[in-house]
Amino acid sequence: MPKLSRLFVRTALAYLVAGFTAGALMLANKGVALHPFLWRLLPLHVEFLLVGWTVQFIFGVAFWILPRFGTSRGPEGVVWLSYGLLNAGVLLAGVGGLLAGSPWPVLAGRLAEMGAIGAFVVNMWPRIKPFRDVAAGGGRGHGPSRAP
Ligand code: HEM
Repeated sequence: MPKLSRLFVRTALAYLVAGFTAGALMLANKGVALHPFLWRLLPLHVEFLLVGWTVQFIFGVAFWILPRFGTSRGPEGVVWLSYGLLNAGVLLAGVGGLLAGSPWPVLAGRLAEMGAIGAFVVNMWPRIKPFRDVAAGGGRGHGPSRAP
């Protein structure tokens, strides 16, 4: 598994733990009123689990597993950019949603997330190719490999 995928997946797992914790706190607060602030965790819970966990996990596994060009997984710079933008976006939108006030952090977070998706697609798009191209060394002229 390449370094970028390990980073995506480990970060996704951190969001899974944080998102579940926020959900558990909200759930507990429904049974036993602990503190009214806990209900404000809802946007953070949703952001961390839907984007921080689910999307990020998919990015990590897709970067690792989708067809390669020989040993290359295409331009990595855009994937690093995607990782940075995605996590800046999740933090801005998740934590910004906690602060009942300015909508700007959430908007900035959403824009960063869109940028992350765009950058990821730049890397992924040419890697979506029929198996016969991969097996025959076709497409971009590279065959299958045993790259890590
Ligand atoms: C991948 C897992 C999960 C995802 C994607 C997820 C997503 C969501 C979403 C989208 C909502 C908002 C629903 C709405 O506004 O109608 C929500 C609400 C909620 N979630 Fe989760 N959730 C997950 C796991 C959990 C877990 C494990 C817990 C508790 C331990 C939890 C507790 C809650 C609670 C208490 C609410 C508020 C429900 C209400 O409106 O009364 N969630 N979740």
